[in-house]
Amino acid sequence: MTVPPVTTAEDLGAQALFDELVANEQRIEPRDWMPEAYRRTLIRQISQHAHSEIIGMQPEGNWITRAPSLKRKAILMAKVQDEAGHGLYLYSAAQTLGITRDEMMQQLIDGKAKYSSIFNYPTPTWADMGAIGWLVDGAAICNQVPLCRASYGPYGRAMVRICKEESFHQRQGFEILLTLMQGSEEQRAMAQDAVNRWYWPALAMFGPPDDQSPNSAQSMQWKIKRFSNDDLRQRFVGMLVPQAEILGVTLPDPELRYDAETGRYAMGEIDWDEFFEVVRGNGPCNAERLQRRRDAHEEGAWVREAAAEYARKQALRQEVAA
Ligand SMILES: [Fe+2]
Ligand SMILES: [Fe+2]
Repeated sequence: MTVPPVTTAEDLGAQALFDELVANEQRIEPRDWMPEAYRRTLIRQISQHAHSEIIGMQPEGNWITRAPSLKRKAILMAKVQDEAGHGLYLYSAAQTLGITRDEMMQQLIDGKAKYSSIFNYPTPTWADMGAIGWLVDGAAICNQVPLCRASYGPYGRAMVRICKEESFHQRQGFEILLTLMQGSEEQRAMAQDAVNRWYWPALAMFGPPDDQSPNSAQSMQWKIKRFSNDDLRQRFVGMLVPQAEILGVTLPDPELRYDAETGRYAMGEIDWDEFFEVVRGNGPCNAERLQRRRDAHEEGAWVREAAAEYARKQALRQEVAA
């Protein structure tokens, strides 16, 4: 594909240059002029995404000490560490838009920032580690692969690396469920129960139906978002159906069927009242997740102070040497 030459800012003015870059599938970089609403939308979206990665460590961190073998423990620990890394890439990407990490962290621990509602559900059994990897990381991949082409450079580049790791996460979840499904009657029931609990919240991760998603059109025009919520949900279900067959689990939607005429899945109604209750902070684990984050932030203060002091001394030493 050949990209037509870009007219300079003097010729077109900043807004027109921005529009042209976006229209030509070129990247907007931190040094470039961008509309204030674009910047604000990205700060909100990227910081919420970063918070989700960090809060998302908790439901699985809950199982690290209880994973059934040394191998499972090592895999789970690596997975949870990956999520911390995802948070760091994303906080760094958001910082290029002019917000500090401290501000973002403060918004999170003050309860003013949102993060993905899915992490406000509990993880009572080992099978939840399988269901989270398979369904939650699976939904994340469907959402995030198109974000690798997001018009804002630092966001798109962070997503490339994140997506590679998410596919490992999805596979490890699938493998946990597969092992359980080949086990005893009790283990199979535990796997099915976890799938029953995580399926609907995972579908809700794509957001409200298209006709109730007011910000989507603008985000698509800016090429931050590439596919609508409903289209992404369709893709996700299309990925799950054959995998559920291999696993031998039932997806808990009696209305789910493939409509060959439309090429789409018909599915039951998501309980949006429940979804918005959890978004408003009234999910089963909202308070616990936030408290844990606050405690971790306070307990980690000495690490941040020590790192800042070390950086200060290093800079001073370099100054003296120069
Ligand atoms: Fe992640
Ligand atoms: Fe993940």
